[in-house]
Amino acid sequence: MSAITAERCSELPSVSADEVAAYVVDAAVWAPSVHNTQPWWFSGRGAEIILHADRRRQLSVADPVGREMMISCGAALFTAKLALRSLGYIAEARVLPDHADPLVVARLRWRHRSPPAEYESRLFSQVTRRRSHRGGFGPLPLVPGLLDALRRDAIRDGAALRIATDDGSRAAVAAAVEMAERVERQDSMYVRELAAWAPSPGSVRRDGVSPLSYPARPVRTSPNFPSRDFAHGYDWGLPVSSAASGARFAGVVCLLTTPADYPADWVSAGHALQRLLLTSATCGVAAALYSQPVEIDWLREVLRAQLGDCSYPQLVLRLGSTVQSAVSVRRPPGSVLFRGE
Ligand SMILES: Cc1cc2nc3c(=O)[nH]c(=O)nc-3n(C[C@H](O)[C@H](O)[C@H](O)COP(=O)(O)O)c2cc1C
Repeated sequence: MSAITAERCSELPSVSADEVAAYVVDAAVWAPSVHNTQPWWFSGRGAEIILHADRRRQLSVADPVGREMMISCGAALFTAKLALRSLGYIAEARVLPDHADPLVVARLRWRHRSPPAEYESRLFSQVTRRRSHRGGFGPLPLVPGLLDALRRDAIRDGAALRIATDDGSRAAVAAAVEMAERVERQDSMYVRELAAWAPSPGSVRRDGVSPLSYPARPVRTSPNFPSRDFAHGYDWGLPVSSAASGARFAGVVCLLTTPADYPADWVSAGHALQRLLLTSATCGVAAALYSQPVEIDWLREVLRAQLGDCSYPQLVLRLGSTVQSAVSVRRPPGSVLFRGE
């Protein structure tokens, strides 16, 4: 993180707008993104940051309309706002403000101050610690009240968290993930694209899914949620410890949905996703993410029909208790932030 540290705003030294921008982008880059593409860059001057989606980092095969790119940018937006709060600034955000440029995801300004609430500081403390999980979970139930809080928060962000409560609906979501994974593994274009974002061990790349972030062999859960094949046939990945191989619970299976399916909804979904991930992390709960079934149109429709309320599935998640050992990398903030005079 940059040199500024978050303190109560009354105690804050006066910092320049450029220092605030650097601090905010330092944090925002730790948002989750599909295949760790980090499909964003930042510009602005004075007390303003503009978050742009970076089309060159969009997955043209898996994500031709840019939905997952915008979800990733929505997660970066939430993180940037939280970083401003950690400095005691009130973030003023305008989402998709420029009709002429749909890649301008948000304009973020800071003018007024109020001390961060304790929960905001707690969420912020997880920004660099949270990791995507790929494997099973232990048997411990989630902290009481967590799911209700996550559901309420998602609605506040313009999304919804739908929890698969019975075995039948859990099995149906798992089957959609399994089918999507099978379809994608048989399609050479998907396989090539995934391989391009799955660097080999020892790579110095600061993007893509690190071999230190997935298990060397699949950990089966019940029902089973197959992970993406990041190692594509190589002997890559973290050794599976006996503790991890014993963690076979799928955890709480959920769908993140939005009432409509426009770019603004995708940004809302990303905003909701990052709030959910950080809130869960404060309770020792990690999430495994699956976007395969929403990348295949007909499978997405199957999931949608199961929801029965005309909403649009954006992501499948499993939530559970685990100890995280995954490593994740990011591009240096200086390479994604461009400030004018
Ligand atoms: C829109 C979106 C889709 C994702 N889809 C998957 C997925 O299908 N499988 C997976 O293992 N991780 C998925 N992820 C998690 C990313 O791979 C992860 O955020 C990225 O590698 C960075 O790692 P970190 O979250 O541990 O920091 C997704 C994340 C986002 C934001």
